[in-house]
This record gives sequence, structure tokens and C-alpha cells, in this order.
Amino acid sequence: MSACFDSSIDPRLLDREPFKFHHKLMDHPALSLENLTRVIPALPADHVKYSKGLMRNGDDFESAHLQHRSNLSLAETIESIRTSDSYVMVRSPQVHESFHPVFRDLSADVEALLREQFGSRERLLLAPRLYLFIASPNSHTPFHIDRNSTMLLQFRGSKEMVIFPRWEPAVVTHEAREAYAACDNTKLPWSNEKDRFARRFDFRPGDGLHIPFIAGHYVQNGSEDVSISMSIIFNTPESQAQLNALQFNHRVRPWMARLGMQPTPVGTSAGRDTLKSNLWRAHMKLSRSLGAGEPA
Ligand SMILES: [Fe+2]
Repeated sequence: MSACFDSSIDPRLLDREPFKFHHKLMDHPALSLENLTRVIPALPADHVKYSKGLMRNGDDFESAHLQHRSNLSLAETIESIRTSDSYVMVRSPQVHESFHPVFRDLSADVEALLREQFGSRERLLLAPRLYLFIASPNSHTPFHIDRNSTMLLQFRGSKEMVIFPRWEPAVVTHEAREAYAACDNTKLPWSNEKDRFARRFDFRPGDGLHIPFIAGHYVQNGSEDVSISMSIIFNTPESQAQLNALQFNHRVRPWMARLGMQPTPVGTSAGRDTLKSNLWRAHMKLSRSLGAGEPA
């Protein structure tokens, strides 16, 4: 029996298709505005990014807090969130004790779903973390991809969630996806023709949504209220291998291009992705042991 999700979730769809469900955390005390107002300013400063000004598809979401730097303090931003066109993103609020129970319950529920999907292999839930998002009415989260899987839960306000197929090169080219996975270039080109691949989800308080690993998405918040949402993000052994394989491809692509070749796209062969992942892990381990730090 899940503490956080309703029973409608089909675990076989995890990291295959986006899907909606309902969550059971609407009245959770950690998510009350009083608790958020108390907890967010008390977190380490590097856990909180906030920006001002509406963003558009084509903007670099990962550097939005630098390009759209706010002249307001964090406290002023939260206080004026209804009218200030602001966006607050909180990484790992689970370091605060008021989020310990909800983090534990969500982690256990996702692990149980993964066990249903993949069987009883050890450690299926890798690096779970919470994120909080507080956004002004009408704010827009630009088109981007994430290096993890997401279960997003809505608590206040409404959104339209727009999600794209994971490996479709007409949405994100193989080169762009690999560069994004390697954190080398996080600005994704956008044109409205990509919308023909979109699946759109109306998202309201009490709703949950699964965004599969590496699936492109953007978010349009409704005009009627501030939006408060929380996600648990995670990897699985499969998505971690695909992430490693994307980084491997990013590294070898220029070398192969000189020979008139290109790497097989990730997501087309699980065996090949695992092989690349193992090679990438060995390469990273060797680089670390040689004291070279993170390879460029
Ligand atoms: Fe995202």
C-alpha cells in the first residue's frame, strides 16, 4: 500500500511513457506555506536558486538564475511571489528535518514501483532527491531535459505540462542530448514545429505526473494562482547506464567524425548502452586515480 501515490500507476510505464496519477500528500504539513516560508531561507544558500522575469522556450533553463538574476532577496521573492514574475527552485529540501518523513515515504514508494517493474535486483533507486518549485502566476519553465527520472506532485495552482518522446531526434538531436547529459551545453534549440510531438497534461492540486528519464519537457503555469509543486527525482541502474552512455558518445563523437563515422544513438540497444557505460565508468575511475579530476 503506497503512502504517497494512488493505485492507478502502472509500473511498466516508468521511464517508458509519461503518465498522470493522484498523490496523497495534499495536506502534508511539510508543504504548508508556513513551513516553506520557514524552511527555505534556513537551507544552505546553494540549495536555493531564484530568478525574476518570464522565460521562454529556447532559454537556457539551467542558467536562468544567472541570466534572470533577481534584485529581490529570497524572503522578498517568496513574499511577493504572487505578483513578481519570479521562480524559486529548491534542491534537496530533505536535508531539513521537516522533510525527512515525506522523503522517506516517497523513496519507499518509488522503490516499490521499480521493484515491480524490474524485479528484485539490489539498489534500484539511485540518488533520490527532492526538489521544490514555487512560481508566480503565468511563469514558464523553458524546454529542457533532466538527467534523471521525475515524479512531480502539484500542491497549489495549475500548470500545463508538455512532454516529448525521449529519443526523438527531431525534438532533441543526438548531439544536443549528449552535450546536455555531459553538462557541456544546456541551451537547447527550440522551434514551434517540435510541438507536433508533444503530449500535453493538465496538472492541478492533487495530481502527480511521471516524466521519464531524458524526456524533453516545458511547463506553462496558470494565471489564477501561485504554483507550488514538489518532485522526487532519481535514477535507476538502466537510466544511469544510459546517462553514462550519453556522456561516452559525447566524448567519442568528435573522434569518430574525423573518420566519417558516428556513434550508435543511446536508447537503441541496451547491450551497447551497458558496454559504453562500463567503458565510461572505467575511464572516469582511471582519470580520478591519475588525479586528473573530472575529464573535460
Ligand atoms: Fe525538468
